[in-house]
Amino acid sequence: MAAKQFGQLAVIGAGNMGSGIAQKMATEGFEVLMVDLNEDAVARGLGIIEKTLSEGVERKIFKPDQAEAIKGRVQGTADWTRLAGVDLVVEAVFEDEQVKLDVFKRLDEVTRPDTILATNTSSLSVTKLAAATKHPERVIGLHYFYHPAKNRLVEVIPGKNSNPELVAAAWTLQEQIGKTPIWSTDDPGFVVNRYFVPWLNESVRLLEEGVADIPTIEAACKKTFGVGMGPFELMNVTGVPIALHSAETLGKELGAFYAPAKKLAEQVASKENWSLDGEADESKFAAVEERMLGVIFYVAAALCDEKVGTIEDTDIGARVGLRWPKGPFEMINRYGVDKARSAVNAVCDRWDMKMPATLADQAAKGGPFHFELVKSEVRDGVAYLTINRPDAMNALNETVVGQLHDAFKIAAADDAVKGIVIGGAGKGFIAGADIRFFVKNIEAKDLDRIVRFTEQGQQMLREMDNCSKPVVARMHGLALGGGLELALACDYIVASDKAVMAFPETGIGIYPGLGGTQRPSRRIGVGLTKWMVFTGQMISAKQAEAIGLVDKTVSADQIDAAVLECIDQGPVTERTAQVPPADFVPLSELFEKNPADALREGRVETGGDAKLQKTVGKVAHKAPIALRLAGEMIEEGAKGSLDDGLAMELGKLTEIFATEDAYEGLSSLGRRRPEFHGR
Ligand SMILES: NC(=O)c1ccc[n+]([C@@H]2O[C@H](COP(=O)([O-])OP(=O)(O)OC[C@H]3O[C@@H](n4cnc5c(N)ncnc54)[C@H](O)[C@@H]3O)[C@@H](O)[C@H]2O)c1
Repeated sequence: MAAKQFGQLAVIGAGNMGSGIAQKMATEGFEVLMVDLNEDAVARGLGIIEKTLSEGVERKIFKPDQAEAIKGRVQGTADWTRLAGVDLVVEAVFEDEQVKLDVFKRLDEVTRPDTILATNTSSLSVTKLAAATKHPERVIGLHYFYHPAKNRLVEVIPGKNSNPELVAAAWTLQEQIGKTPIWSTDDPGFVVNRYFVPWLNESVRLLEEGVADIPTIEAACKKTFGVGMGPFELMNVTGVPIALHSAETLGKELGAFYAPAKKLAEQVASKENWSLDGEADESKFAAVEERMLGVIFYVAAALCDEKVGTIEDTDIGARVGLRWPKGPFEMINRYGVDKARSAVNAVCDRWDMKMPATLADQAAKGGPFHFELVKSEVRDGVAYLTINRPDAMNALNETVVGQLHDAFKIAAADDAVKGIVIGGAGKGFIAGADIRFFVKNIEAKDLDRIVRFTEQGQQMLREMDNCSKPVVARMHGLALGGGLELALACDYIVASDKAVMAFPETGIGIYPGLGGTQRPSRRIGVGLTKWMVFTGQMISAKQAEAIGLVDKTVSADQIDAAVLECIDQGPVTERTAQVPPADFVPLSELFEKNPADALREGRVETGGDAKLQKTVGKVAHKAPIALRLAGEMIEEGAKGSLDDGLAMELGKLTEIFATEDAYEGLSSLGRRRPEFHGR
């Protein structure tokens, strides 16, 4: 089946969620129809978008013309016949089963039979809603989180009868619109609300039982979970009745432990928010912590027992959707698996429930939970290795490289695998190496560990180079530094037209050490390699294709088909650098001719070309030692073998990471502009 292409999208219900979902789709370039019952409701939704966008302009998230363009892509209407041409609909009407069933019936009549129909329900069964249609195979759940234009998380929920290809297409679309999707089965609360609602509810129980007062519970939760708002303040902000309704729904489906605390119902009846006033009593923090963690650990393990979600998705859900610094399983690891089991034991005793096997088994095995940061699956003879750290833009660290290396070896040795595809989960491909790892090891004076990490990375990339099967980088989004280097070790780079890429290393005091000074010149020549490495210039996939850095650039919905075409072509055995296209020739010649120092100091002849002058100006801000070493390695490397070049990169690592500039550059990242002194 050809990849599903998404043209116009639609949202039903122009309320808080619907308007935000429409805004996000339009922000990412899609035309969106926003449908409601009448023109007033539509106008209200358009007003919400207008307001959110003008706040975005004020906060400099959007330029005024961008905001106008986004608004221009959202059309509001009460005319449902206009849905005949759309490819995907997200329903976000009132959370009322009959209302939603009626909406799905109507959607079934007005849309094409191949249009994907998604519900944003928080508590109803996707399968049940799908049954209102003649084509339940095209109905799925897409559960977004408030504020849907800002919060990246979306739970993708296949119904019992959903067509897996349509579900996969909807998943890819989520990544295209900048979301971080996680899977959930069609079960009450899906993944995140399954533990988040009990978290709110347990705080009320602690109050009800007199374990602590509200200010104490608030303060203890903020400390334990590392969050800005405790459960009571959150309920005040999002609506106390919603918390009650959610707990009632879970309680009905899952039993007494999930049912609302009496005091929660009383608070809703009073129509008041919780009063947060008062001083916290620190002596009660430990008791609050144990109860709150016990509940979270219990639910997280139980939902994994039931295969509602994986441990990785459970944690991603907390980090991305709730903005907790750590997910439940990372918290279990930090707390200690044995201690966590005791806390959960207390929960199970209190509610007469079974200890979840996920936790019991881990405790019996000993040691912390291990996370699968690289997903590996074989479909139709192709191995797809996907780095699954979407909230860290799939940055490479020791665990990721170790797991990717293992997965690659298995795929390479598998006779049933004809080709290997490397990709990243979420919006980006791979945002380089984990900078915190470098900073930590420089501070610990353990530069050997940095060398070992790079060595393993180089070795893995070398195996990709030499693999007898075609290896394809599926670059659907941002690729920086190590991510771009990894892609360059593949036979093919297939990029989506949304992808952008750069070598930012010399701007943070180091040089690219995973072949970034070696492999690019074998595709784009020495001049353009120096240009990219010396300026850190971000280039689009289209530009990258024009200079020969990537093999193919296609629209986002065609990327998988293009990847498969490359697999069919087999591995690339020989590659010669492409001659730069005419508009890149001056740049290429300027950088090829001049050494790093001359470029950094602006002592070069640009023939008065303002654009070249500006480009040279960018080199002035980079770290001098990193520039010099990178320049030497690019030039030397192009003359010899790839192995010699890579050995050169490895050989200078200790020298570069020992510089003051490396520490300055790496530790200032994201905080301030670094100041380099050439030391
Ligand atoms: N608010 C949240 O935090 C949140 C989070 C995740 C999911 N959800 C889910 O999203 C959905 C919408 O929630 P919301 O907060 O945006 O609600 P809302 O009340 O703000 O908006 C609902 C919109 O649906 C419209 N509507 C009602 N019946 C309709 C019909 N038959 N046809 C067309 N439009 C109709 C209403 O006019 C209104 O504009 C619910 O299913 C809710 O559970 C909400």
